Amino acid sequence: MKLKYSLITRRQFLNTLFGGSLIAFFSGTLFSLFKFAFPTLGKEPDFVVLDKNEFIDIPPNSTKAFAWGGVLGLFLKRADGTVAAFKGVCTHMECNIAYRPEEQKFYCACHQGWFSDQGVNIEGPPPKPLEHFEILEKGEKIIIARKGAKVDLAKV
Ligand code: FES
Repeated sequence: MKLKYSLITRRQFLNTLFGGSLIAFFSGTLFSLFKFAFPTLGKEPDFVVLDKNEFIDIPPNSTKAFAWGGVLGLFLKRADGTVAAFKGVCTHMECNIAYRPEEQKFYCACHQGWFSDQGVNIEGPPPKPLEHFEILEKGEKIIIARKGAKVDLAKV
């Protein structure tokens, strides 16, 4: 059956089309801004594979950054030569932390939080220790893995 007249006017059709376009545009923009503002949201890896020579040979009492998914990871060589790897994100409100060699501690500048070189929260608002990763050596590579994660190198 063909109608003799349209159920909507041309103006209504164009307004709906224009409004839909604006909603789609602003939704995409807001989503992008949200992902930028909260980069740690989303999936993080169970492990990452790094070049051993770039990390093992760093000087004592220093750190080297690595990418833990979309967030900061920190490889630490303590003053005594032992090594550790941490998620470089404060446990208070997820600011990035930095290693202070003169103090031999990690510092979060957002609210003056401090973590020991063992990753333990020792001062300021952070409520719990840093996430501590396991370090596995495999030939010329090191594998930084979440504790208890199954490392499947076939996925690399
Ligand atoms: S975010 Fe690190 S102390 Fe608040």
